[in-house]
This record gives sequence, structure tokens and C-alpha cells, in this order.
Amino acid sequence: MTKVEFSRLVDQAPFRWCKEDWQKGTAPHAYTYRRNWNDKDFCEAVLFIRTSGYPIKFWSKEYIYYDLNGFHYWTMGEALNKDGKPHTILMNRAYCKTVKPTEYHDASGYDELFNTDGYHAEDKELFKLLGQVKGSVLDVGCGTGMFLNHYTPKDYTGIDNSLPMLAVFRRANKTYADRGLYTTLGDFKPWRRYDNVFGIYSASYINDPKDFLRVWNGKGKLFLTYFKPTYNPITHIELGISPPYNHYTKQELESIFDTKVIDFGDYYIIKK
Ligand SMILES: C[S@@+](CC[C@H](N)C(=O)[O-])C[C@H]1O[C@@H](n2cnc3c(N)ncnc32)[C@H](O)[C@@H]1O
Repeated sequence: MTKVEFSRLVDQAPFRWCKEDWQKGTAPHAYTYRRNWNDKDFCEAVLFIRTSGYPIKFWSKEYIYYDLNGFHYWTMGEALNKDGKPHTILMNRAYCKTVKPTEYHDASGYDELFNTDGYHAEDKELFKLLGQVKGSVLDVGCGTGMFLNHYTPKDYTGIDNSLPMLAVFRRANKTYADRGLYTTLGDFKPWRRYDNVFGIYSASYINDPKDFLRVWNGKGKLFLTYFKPTYNPITHIELGISPPYNHYTKQELESIFDTKVIDFGDYYIIKK
């Protein structure tokens, strides 16, 4: 099995977060059952973890972790029985401890801040501009899942490097709970490119704008909102945070994305 094949299989497998963790607002781990997989795929994926991963100690027991796109993956017990048949019936995953988090650590404060008629109206305008969305979606900097208040895509992946934002995302969007990944865009190496790539109120935090193009297949929409150089983000002021971000002029954005920039209040919008 290759890394790309493993990545595709775990991306398509139904993972469930452990129930009791919902109440705590944290989710140390999620699991998927072998019975919900093609048996051969499951067995090969387990062997892939065992042969490509690295050992870790957890409560004095040794496990093998394989790290991918913001998750540690591991299984327990023997990978195979003596007769070569799969032994382990469960695969686990948990958010990677090695991800560098952003300062977006007050998710309820974030939602409260934007729960006003003025901001709801701005979002409505923004999504009117985005229009219809068809095909797979990658929502970069998905936060608490605001995009999912407006659209219900069948094939959705959100990425964000804030655990508190992702905790609210999971609670607020139960059907998409296992679709929020803990990673930065720079570290995200998906097995496929996406029809639609969005960076809604988040594009300025992405260090290399070319990363948006790396994960987009050009079949759907690319939709990114950048802070204007004159804008001091309200989240930074109100939540008392100062995460690093990038300022681009209109000309710089037009040259990077080879398209005209749309003027939208405090933002420059890239829409392709
Ligand atoms: C202003 S919030 C926007 C959240 C959501 N898109 C919305 O419209 O409500 C910006 C989000 O980008 C996330 N973020 C910051 N840097 C990131 C990065 N390098 N990769 C992925 N997400 C990032 C933050 O954790 C935060 O949740």
C-alpha cells in the first residue's frame, strides 16, 4: 500500500469521535470499525501503519503511530492472526500533537462576536457572491463551520489549526463531525485535489498563497477573502489575539491568482 492509497482510504472511512468526549468539548480520539471497510483494504492499511509508523509509549504500553494530515493513526493488538487473517478490528486516530496551533483559542467568543444582524447580512452578501457550489469542497480555515450554515455539500473537508474552533465545529455540525481536520494548509498533503477551494475570512493567514492552487483542480470555484492592507481584523482586537497574517496589495493578489480582485468592504476577494 502507498501513502496516497492509505490517505484515500482513511479519508473515505467513517470515523466516529468517542461519545463521552463530546461533553468535555475535546475529542482525544475517533475510531473506525473493520466491519465497515473492505476487509483486504483494512488489513493492508493496518500493516501500512505498522510498517511505516513509529513507536510511542502510552501508559507504559507501546503503540505504533502513523501521522498524516493532522492525525495520529494507530491500531491495537496484533495486526494479523497466525493464519494471516486480520486480528485487529478497530483503527483509531487522534489530532496530532505536533501541529502548530494558531491563537484562535476562544471559539465561543468568536461565534458570539459575529452573531449580529450586521455580520449575518455581510455573510449573506458574501455567499451571494460565491453562488452555487457543486462537487468536492475544501474549506481552509473552516473555524467553527460557518460555511456549513449556508451550504450542505456531500463531499466536504474542512481544515483548521485551532482545536477549540474544531471542537465547536464538531458539536455544531454533527453530520460533518469527522470532516474537520487539524492541520495548516501548508502541511496538508491530500491524496486528491478539490473541485472547490475556499478561504473564507481566513486566506490572509495562509503563508504561501500558491498552496491554494496546489490543492485546487480548477473544476469548481476558488474563493478567497483577504484582509485589505488598511484593515485591522476585528477578531484580533476583540479576542485579544495577534496571530501572524499577510497583507497583499490588489496588484499582488491579481498577479498571484491571475484574475481581477473584487472589492468587498474590508476585504479583497479572489473568485475564479
Ligand atoms: C477569521 S477565522 C474564519 C473562520 C471561518 N472560515 C469563518 O468564516 O467563520 C480564521 C480561521 O483560520 C484558521 N487558521 C489560521 N491559520 C491557519 C492555517 N495556516 N491553516 C488553516 N487554518 C488556519 C484559524 O484557526 C481560524 O479558525
